[in-house]
Amino acid sequence: MNFTDKVVIVTGAARGLGQEYARQFARRGASVAVNDLRDCGETLEIIRQEGAQGLATKTDVSSSASTAEMAQAVVEKFGRIDVLVNNAALYGSLHFAPFDKLDEKEWDATMNVNVKGIWQCCKAVLPTMKKQQSGSIINISSLAATYGMPNGLHYTTSKAAVIGATRGLARELGRYNIRVNAVAPNVVNTDATGEVFQDKKDKIVEVTLSQQAIRRPLETGDIVGAVLFLGSEHSELMTGQTMMVDGGTVFL
Ligand SMILES: NC(=O)c1ccc[n+]([C@@H]2O[C@H](COP(=O)([O-])OP(=O)(O)OC[C@H]3O[C@@H](n4cnc5c(N)ncnc54)[C@H](O)[C@@H]3O)[C@@H](O)[C@H]2O)c1
Repeated sequence: MNFTDKVVIVTGAARGLGQEYARQFARRGASVAVNDLRDCGETLEIIRQEGAQGLATKTDVSSSASTAEMAQAVVEKFGRIDVLVNNAALYGSLHFAPFDKLDEKEWDATMNVNVKGIWQCCKAVLPTMKKQQSGSIINISSLAATYGMPNGLHYTTSKAAVIGATRGLARELGRYNIRVNAVAPNVVNTDATGEVFQDKKDKIVEVTLSQQAIRRPLETGDIVGAVLFLGSEHSELMTGQTMMVDGGTVFL
């Protein structure tokens, strides 16, 4: 897959999966705009090392003003927006517990970032993609949504909402030749996974593996192929879909 002359935005790209998507789009010739609440300096350096142009902004995906500013900066620098990867989310910082023990503020924050954040970013890129009459939006959901992960109902619910939003957006935006799809990974070995599960991580991975058809733990590189494919012209007539990258745990 080649992304020469394409402009890709990856949200929440300071580390983890978002950083890996940025690296892989850059490797294939895209100009890559990355953003996060954290500093994206390391990711910007990676993009440049891949020989690509980059742009890093400090952006709060849940804010209309911040996402509009980010999209404007991308268009000013690169002139267009071809792919938006809505990867930013609250995950590593969450406290998982039985649903009646979850913190109300954390519930609201999860919806604010994981769900509203996608809405804000889609609104921010819409004028540009509409003018181009082209674009591919990739929303990062999770196996949590399709499996129905227990003890993290705020996260599970937010990632299920991502699938609903993907379907509704796909219907609304098809007329502008803008595609909207979702990718739903299983547990991936990232810093955030270590933070969320802490000393239970090995047990969680063991249980997760026992339900995979292909019993190998997922690494960051395993998710990249689906994201690149959905961003590319090879998936031109795919929209509204959710691709499970879960070692064969849930079959949609
Ligand atoms: N790692 C996994 O096992 C796994 C599995 C399924 C889905 N996912 C999803 O993949 C994505 C990345 O996961 P990760 O493991 O790399 O996690 P991560 O926590 O390292 O990445 C998420 C990034 O989003 C950023 N972010 C949080 N709130 C933000 C905001 N308001 N505005 C902008 N950026 C914000 C964080 O700072 C962080 O850098 C997330 O959407 C996550 O839910 C991860």
